[in-house]
Amino acid sequence: MQGREPLGVIGAGWVGLVTAACFAELGHEVVVRDIDAERIGELEDGRLPIFEPGLDEVLAQNRGRIRFTLDIAEIFDAARVAFICVGTPSTYSGDADLTAVWHVLDELPELQDRVLLVMKSTVPVGTGEKIRQRLDDKGLAHVGYVSNPEFLAEGTAVENFRHPDRVVVGAFAEADGAKVAGLYEPTGAPLVTTDVASAEMIKLASNAFLATRISFINEIANVCEVTGADVADVARGMGLDHRLGPHFLRPGIGYGGSCFPKDVAALKQLAGNSGYHFQLLSAVIEVNELQKRRVVGKLKKHLGPLRGKEIALLGLAFKPNTNDLREASSLVLASRLLAEGARVRAWDPIAIEDARKLLKGVEFATTLREAVAGADAAVVVTEWDEVRELPTPELRDSMRRPLIVDGRNFLDPEAARAIGFTYEGIGRAASTLGAIQQAEQTEPELA
Ligand code: UGA
Repeated sequence: MQGREPLGVIGAGWVGLVTAACFAELGHEVVVRDIDAERIGELEDGRLPIFEPGLDEVLAQNRGRIRFTLDIAEIFDAARVAFICVGTPSTYSGDADLTAVWHVLDELPELQDRVLLVMKSTVPVGTGEKIRQRLDDKGLAHVGYVSNPEFLAEGTAVENFRHPDRVVVGAFAEADGAKVAGLYEPTGAPLVTTDVASAEMIKLASNAFLATRISFINEIANVCEVTGADVADVARGMGLDHRLGPHFLRPGIGYGGSCFPKDVAALKQLAGNSGYHFQLLSAVIEVNELQKRRVVGKLKKHLGPLRGKEIALLGLAFKPNTNDLREASSLVLASRLLAEGARVRAWDPIAIEDARKLLKGVEFATTLREAVAGADAAVVVTEWDEVRELPTPELRDSMRRPLIVDGRNFLDPEAARAIGFTYEGIGRAASTLGAIQQAEQTEPELA
């Protein structure tokens, strides 16, 4: 097994902190460097600038092996292997913005020994080749470069690191790849060793395919609504085919987060920039954008024009167990509802503070109860556990109209309806028809 060699982590964001904490847990000394002094200060004081379940414990338990610094030279004083974990957001053109990556290369101190730069950030295919060239031009031909994409999902990142489905290592030199692969040996995960470009593509293609599955099942859900099928049963029936598998077949109000929207756009742009029109991904993106807005139509069906109606949004984060609002469907949905003239009251157990800065014109409730009181409809946006408390007689009576639009098919339609709610999910024609009939009986004044 590889010795417990000291490691460097450049970038104390979500990927960097999970990587640092989990390698420290495996017994490595880790030096973490960031350019943000406030962030480094917080980390030194034992405060986590992000929310990720379990990460605070792993960091606290292994604090003795982790050092935080603003000085990149400290990384290479201590370590011969440095993971690059900096942000690669989308530019206006949909390409990946590699400014932070190039900044790291510009900042490299004089390096006499053979050190390895290991790219964890998601980068376009061909980036490794360009970095190799830049290193050579800077007289750093002795510095190795390895692509080692991360497959951590927010909310389960610590678990994903400890038990990865696979570890992907793409290297220019076999020995460099073997060295990085050895670091993951304790996880026992299957290893894919390949060239740098293929490793870069594995990451982008994996995220793009998962996003494609989501847009696919969302379209199936939409067709179910007009043909009388129930997408929950359809997804289950599809997922039991081992060639298809059950994952990422949950329909909803579209995928969000810091990865899928950015990576699907980046792969589409990368293909386009190389002269290939990736039609399928164009459709995946368009379906996702439309899906975020479908709830508006469902609300109008029950409530008529939304001007002056009070709509409770339950959950804002792009998925549960995170406070991340990046590309969250809730942002588009809330903005559309405001544009329709609705009053929007939003609740989320942990994302409210960030949401206040992003969503002007939205009112915020500190509890789910407060959000739904007096509302014309409650929309399930994020599958937080607390949302299970919604279908009760007490909350039904607190609403102006007992309408639930379940954007995640999270609640049991029959149970909700038994309590007297009008319930509408995504892609559940039977429930939709039932809901309409019920709406006609209980709300005769509405179209
Ligand atoms: C995703 C990938 O799952 C990770 O493997 C990858 O490492 C990560 O991106 C990354 O590139 O860093 P993440 O964005 O954290 O992870 O979250 P997911 O759990 O994949 O969910 C993404 C979005 O898809 C969420 O908005 C979720 O609600 C939605 N989703 C997911 C669905 O609408 N339906 C599903 O069946 C699954």
